[in-house]
Amino acid sequence: MYRTRLVKLTPRARFGTVCLHAGQEPDPSTGAIITPIYQTSTYVQDELGKHKGFEYGRTQNPTRLALERNIAAIESGKAAFAFASGMAAIGAIATMLQSGDHVIVSDNTYGGTFRLFDKVLTRYQITFSYVDTSRLDAVERAITSATRMLFVETPTNPIMTLTDLRAAADLAHRHDLRLVVDNTFASPYVQRPIEFGADLVTHSTTKYLNGHSDSVGGVVVAVRDDDIEWLKFVQNAEGAILSPFDSWLVLRGTKTLPLRMVQHSANGLALAQFLAGHPHVRRVYYPGLPTHPQYELAKRQMRGFGGMLAFDVGSLEAARAVLNNVRLHALAESLGGVETLISHPATMTHASVPADRRAALGITEGMVRISAGIEDIEDLKEDLEQALAKIAVAAGI
Ligand SMILES: Cc1ncc(COP(=O)(O)O)c(C=O)c1O
Repeated sequence: MYRTRLVKLTPRARFGTVCLHAGQEPDPSTGAIITPIYQTSTYVQDELGKHKGFEYGRTQNPTRLALERNIAAIESGKAAFAFASGMAAIGAIATMLQSGDHVIVSDNTYGGTFRLFDKVLTRYQITFSYVDTSRLDAVERAITSATRMLFVETPTNPIMTLTDLRAAADLAHRHDLRLVVDNTFASPYVQRPIEFGADLVTHSTTKYLNGHSDSVGGVVVAVRDDDIEWLKFVQNAEGAILSPFDSWLVLRGTKTLPLRMVQHSANGLALAQFLAGHPHVRRVYYPGLPTHPQYELAKRQMRGFGGMLAFDVGSLEAARAVLNNVRLHALAESLGGVETLISHPATMTHASVPADRRAALGITEGMVRISAGIEDIEDLKEDLEQALAKIAVAAGI
């Protein structure tokens, strides 16, 4: 009942307004403009069988509910469910599958997703095909009578390959499959998969939605009533819920999502352009460069091109020289925070991916990934410039 309550926004409200206000009304008991952290495990009932829609903290929490309504609106979905991590959210989606089912997954999916699918779900006789989902002919060929789901990431990490979301949704629906999109990398400011026809969207809220590198969480956004019923049931049944404090942090983060994403995208593009013109850089991966093979698709389906980019300096030694000499770029896993992070996919985020698979995906030892933050771009460029200069020093040039 409470999940379908309407927010106070008009249907015309624009994205920035939706991010700020959706799901939140002044606190009914005090008028507090910010949804409080309801740090409670249970709720006192008025009389037997009569309560205010809240019975027990795992099942319902007002702070989590405000966040869920907020993200559902931001992603143009009908309902959202918040979990303790991005992986817990993907785990909840996985419960929609049954033994014998088959799933087609973007071949370059996040390593943790691959690990969950490959090491855990295969134990339950669920099978997976890893396909380059930028090639929908290949996806179509992989569909069998057991296929139930197409699980896509676009752009992929760190190669930045795109999947045409509208075409993928059409293909999925022609074959009666659910299209699931992990939208963590782009953020809903940059693209909203449900508007292209996706059935389910998931995020690691740890990244852009929270945006401040101080919370771990996940969310699933759904549109179909049967999916909503099931996810609501599973969230309570499995219990991997987002805490009230983390819900509050993410809710605080989504208020500034549009402002942050404008700056992340501007810095991402500026760094990509800077790197593309640098003599020590062999290749740059960023969908906002006209040299990206899917630049036209990027312009069609993304607003701005996001803050994620990768570049290749040719060898592990050269990558090491860059990574060990940056000062402002923080050497760290993760992405989507206001601070710029730099990492080495082959030995960090993708270390659990077997070497031959990494090579097939194009993840070389000379590849460096950047999550562009919102610092002044000149400081970021200066930092990279001095670190890239160390490549020549390391090579004795
Ligand atoms: C694309 C993507 N999906 C899912 C996850 C998992 O999220 P979490 O670390 O919050 O469990 C990550 C984490 O890096 C990710 O990058």
